[in-house]
Amino acid sequence: MPLSESPFAAVVLAAGKGTRMKSERPKVLHEVCGRPLAAYPTQAAVAAGASPVVVVVGHQAEAVEAALVAALPSAPLRFAVQAEQRGTAHAVLAAREALRGHTGPIAILSGDTPLLSAATVRALVDARSRERAALAFATMPLDDPRGYGRVVRDAAGRPMRVVEEKDASPEERAIREANAGLYCADARFLWEALGQVGAANAQREFYLTDLIALAASGPGVVAVPVSPAEAHGVNDREELSRANRELTRRLAVAFMKSGVTVEDPERFDVDAGVEIGADTVIEPNVRLRGRTRIGSGCRIGQGAVLTDTVVGDGVTVNPYTVTDQSTVARGAILGPFSRLRPGCEVGEEAHVGNFVEMKKTRLGRKSKANHLTYLGDSEIGAGVNVGAGTITCNYDGEKKHPTRIGDGAFIGSDSILVAPIEIGPGAYVAAGSTLTRSVPAGALAVGRARQENKEGWVAERQARKQKK
Ligand code: UD1
Ligand code: CA
Repeated sequence: MPLSESPFAAVVLAAGKGTRMKSERPKVLHEVCGRPLAAYPTQAAVAAGASPVVVVVGHQAEAVEAALVAALPSAPLRFAVQAEQRGTAHAVLAAREALRGHTGPIAILSGDTPLLSAATVRALVDARSRERAALAFATMPLDDPRGYGRVVRDAAGRPMRVVEEKDASPEERAIREANAGLYCADARFLWEALGQVGAANAQREFYLTDLIALAASGPGVVAVPVSPAEAHGVNDREELSRANRELTRRLAVAFMKSGVTVEDPERFDVDAGVEIGADTVIEPNVRLRGRTRIGSGCRIGQGAVLTDTVVGDGVTVNPYTVTDQSTVARGAILGPFSRLRPGCEVGEEAHVGNFVEMKKTRLGRKSKANHLTYLGDSEIGAGVNVGAGTITCNYDGEKKHPTRIGDGAFIGSDSILVAPIEIGPGAYVAAGSTLTRSVPAGALAVGRARQENKEGWVAERQARKQKK
């Protein structure tokens, strides 16, 4: 069996509060590309082949656990609780029970390194077996290593220990080689060494980084260089934004490689897991969120924000359109400035125009609602023309009521349809009507005051004024 197939477990440390975030929310739940920070290293461990993967939770443990299960529903995760956060070594010890019986290598990852790839986790695991060391740890060269533990090497260049910044001498602080916070340890060494870690340091914490000195002076340690682009940790909001940008850039590159035009990847926001078909053009400042899927040959206009929206092939979404939990069928045209609230289905080649708001509404094939309209709780057939300013009055202050409009109906401009109401197929509604009763198929409904013209009225008024 090749070395790279030896079974290994992983521990993801996600119990800390993340004080530097200045947040009520645990750091590992802050999101990058729509997913919690900790979901990324956890996913990397799973993808690298780790089994089991134990996530150590503590600060707001239930919330962290729930968010990870939601983000990675099919991952074989176990959770261990570190009730008090007394340092990274203490956190790994909390996973011991969950790893009872596991004798193979154990990879340890930080929950705050969202850019880490599965390949790098794998490389670290492999390096340890290859070098037959008790411990492998990842290091990276940084121009600005502030906040990271520094790697202290002996005269022969062998790693001796890692010193945390708060405990470092000025000379040690000048070291640019940083501890990336990714480790792989032999199980026996790990549990034994953790028992020897104390908290006599600047932060009164049990540092996992003490393992490096313990391995270096005993069964051996190997330092594995990794790319800083991957191992950057997120400790504050600035680093969060940088991680988000970097991950977005990677997603944009992947889209471009698969045939999507992303006009400006620096002005594009996308959640992990979004899908886009080939030959679709994404204009600047588009944001695609959640489980959005876009077909091929579409154009997504500037400033559009699509959340959990499924878009068929050849759809045009004009600028500044906002959609949520809706589907848009092949060849449809939305926007500019359309809004689809949850539960809308826009049919093939249908048009939804500017300042049109829809909610829980199905708009049939080739139907059009092009201007200034509200359609709520409506079933609208095929080939219907909804005139400018049409409003479905779906709410009576207590309940919502449905509106049904049959195929081929014509709703004149400025019509008020008081629901529940049904407009039959092919019926006409005269402009400016307020309708409270249903309209049979093929009928014309006029629901407005009749116009009266008073001939000569202006001249008569002038004459009356002059008399006074
Ligand atoms: C840690 C390393 C540092 C390294 C850096 C790399 C230690 C002592 N220091 O520092 O050498 O350069 O990572 O990013 O390990 N956590 C717990 N329980 C705790 C404390 C922390 O689960 O009691 C978790 C946190 O939620 C976080 C991870 O461990 O996900 C790392 O903790 P953090 O406080 O960010 O460590 P750093 O100060 O960045
Ligand atoms: Ca960190």
